[in-house]
Amino acid sequence: MGFVVASAATIRPGLPADWPTIADLLTSSKLPVEGAQECLQHFVVAEEASEVVGCAALEPHGQHALLRSVAVSQQHRRRGLARAMIEHRVDSARRLGLGELHLLTTTASPYFARMGFAAVARSMVPADLDASAEFQGACPASAVLMRLDLRIRAATPRDAEAVAAIYAPIVSSTSISFELDPPSADEMRRRIEATLPALPWLVSVDAHGEVDGYAYASRHRERAAYQWSVDCTAYVREDCRGRGVGRRLYSHLLATLKGLGYHQAFAGIALPNAASVALHTAMGFEPVGTFREVGFKLDAWRDVSWWQCQLQRNEAPLRTPRTIEEAPLSAADIERKANDAVGSPVRARC
Ligand SMILES: CC(C)(COP(=O)(O)OP(=O)(O)OC[C@H]1O[C@@H](n2cnc3c(N)ncnc32)[C@H](O)[C@@H]1OP(=O)(O)O)[C@@H](O)C(=O)NCCC(=O)NCCS
Repeated sequence: MGFVVASAATIRPGLPADWPTIADLLTSSKLPVEGAQECLQHFVVAEEASEVVGCAALEPHGQHALLRSVAVSQQHRRRGLARAMIEHRVDSARRLGLGELHLLTTTASPYFARMGFAAVARSMVPADLDASAEFQGACPASAVLMRLDLRIRAATPRDAEAVAAIYAPIVSSTSISFELDPPSADEMRRRIEATLPALPWLVSVDAHGEVDGYAYASRHRERAAYQWSVDCTAYVREDCRGRGVGRRLYSHLLATLKGLGYHQAFAGIALPNAASVALHTAMGFEPVGTFREVGFKLDAWRDVSWWQCQLQRNEAPLRTPRTIEEAPLSAADIERKANDAVGSPVRARC
């Protein structure tokens, strides 16, 4: 079974009969052929008019996997085929329960950065990947190691129920949120849909694909001069707290906001909240001041402490912040359907 992408192309699993074409594609794209035939069952190919025009593979090594062999024939580039195949392989890595995906590239790091991969030092390579042919010489030592965190993805309206379930006990039995009634799943869907075109809303997923936390940004204030400032918040399912989920969500959220061009991130923490103060301190936020008795909930006046994190040090804004829609290949967008893909040049070497 395959799915249709970029009008006439189909993405489907690689078959033994595809090998000669895949080998030609790898050779003409100057990618290593070593070890590729052995992981043919982990390839997908892009097929058009009964011709294989692209390929991409996931090469599992123990608890880790390499994304490799991303190649599109010259005349079919800039049509989103690589992105569709990569998303297919990323989904497959998630279904295998992997927490992260690595790749090596000599020339395509900006392309993969737009897909949410981040460059990491070669010394950070997990031991089981270090033993692979790619690390043992098939790729040049100058190739950049990149990593995608598979536990964080952009929220979709389908996550509304899980998000509402995480939030409900915080509203009903704590003063962490100043809402008085837990919003329904429908209301949460509306909020996700209203946020996402402009600003990031991320979810974290556990090894079973269940949402175990979320974080999002909202406008700090409406007037125009505030447009480079955002407010941030994160909520982690009660049974998953203290395991780094909040930190992972915030790392992605702040990196995405920085990429969009925001200058300052703010957070209001209803006191007391040791975990939230610890998370914001760990992420580089600094205390600004406290609004005294600014809300009344659960029979008491509540203080809110405000925190801020400078995302970048520019003397004047370079431009109006981009929206998530205008930066469709940001980390927050990795889950988009392949059919939405906009063509992108692919010059992957490893
Ligand atoms: C606040 C919250 C999002 C933090 O998420 P988390 O996944 O539990 O936090 P992490 O495990 O990523 O920990 C982040 C940092 O906070 C510290 N921390 C976490 N919980 C803590 C606690 N209860 N007391 C003290 N420190 C704590 C961790 O040690 C870590 O610090 P380090 O990175 O320097 O080691 C989570 O506790 C939560 O959902 N709380 C209820 C909702 C809430 O308060 N949201 C914030 C609204 S302002």
